[in-house]
Amino acid sequence: MENSIRSLQQEINDATLNSQADIESFRLRYTVRKGLIAALFSQLKSVSPTDRPNIGIMLNQLKESAEARIAEATDSISHHEESSQPSIDLTLPGRISFTGSEHPVQKVLGEMKGIFSAMGFAMATGPELELDSYNFDMLNFPPDHPARDMQDTFFVKRNGNEDDVLLRTHTSPVQVRVMLDQPPPIRVICPGKVYRNEAISSRSYCVFHQLEGLYIDKGVTFADLKATIYSFAHQMFGSEVKLRFRPSFFPFTEPSAEVDVTCYLCGGKGCKVCKKSGWLEIMGCGMVHPNVIQNCGIDPEVWSGYAFGMGVDRTVLLHYKIDDIRLLFENDLRMLRQFTA
Ligand code: PHE
Repeated sequence: MENSIRSLQQEINDATLNSQADIESFRLRYTVRKGLIAALFSQLKSVSPTDRPNIGIMLNQLKESAEARIAEATDSISHHEESSQPSIDLTLPGRISFTGSEHPVQKVLGEMKGIFSAMGFAMATGPELELDSYNFDMLNFPPDHPARDMQDTFFVKRNGNEDDVLLRTHTSPVQVRVMLDQPPPIRVICPGKVYRNEAISSRSYCVFHQLEGLYIDKGVTFADLKATIYSFAHQMFGSEVKLRFRPSFFPFTEPSAEVDVTCYLCGGKGCKVCKKSGWLEIMGCGMVHPNVIQNCGIDPEVWSGYAFGMGVDRTVLLHYKIDDIRLLFENDLRMLRQFTA
């Protein structure tokens, strides 16, 4: 009996189990109810009672080792099948994901900020949801000024008193906030979004960006304003551009001017962009009205200053040859992906 167990054990150890078919015939030969191991178990009762426990143990070990071989072989075959399926192709190139990039408006704004900060201007920001009084009253807008009309302004809360809330129509209320906040001398730029309820087209949108500048000090003159604007325009649009100051009107500056540069696309000869005029308007500016300085608790007899405000988006369009302002606000990835560094 012992010998037959040993030789069967040897056979089991040596069996080749490389396929499902090998395993099946192994199982039928050894471990089924009518298999060789069961046959040995049935002979157990003819073994002498003294040897029976040992033989029993040997038989159990034989059975276990046969079952272990089946389990092991099944496992390795299924493993092999899995790994031989080409589920991952390691030779494929990796997927490159879009990591985002600076928006063209921010690129141009960044350039503008850089020029002014080199001239000593600090940065100031204010809320886009603004009080009517900061957007208009404090800036010396008469109560019946047409710019207050619903046509231009998005009102958020309108009771007809000074705590009406609106979406700021320009960045000039930030001037007011800065003057209320800190004593002169003041030299800041205020970039930000502004809102106007205008007809939407490829050339105008209900949201756009402005960059405001404010300088308050003793003895500031229009000559200081001009020098600053000249320096900015030559750095931003090229040293060859010419400038012209046209008299204009803003309630919060006196005197006021609008500034044009010679069209930097046609060199001033006249083209479609400058509408054959040879000039492009870049900003409004002027000496801060004494009423505004006074409204902000600063003595206009001692302090004077200038302010300027420019649209940013048109420069972005010209700079990158984009023909529709709406593209700047739609966040269309097909457009934004063209501005990766
Ligand atoms: N706030 C004016 C506008 O939105 C621009 C401006 C700013 C003009 C500062 C003069 C001084 O049109």
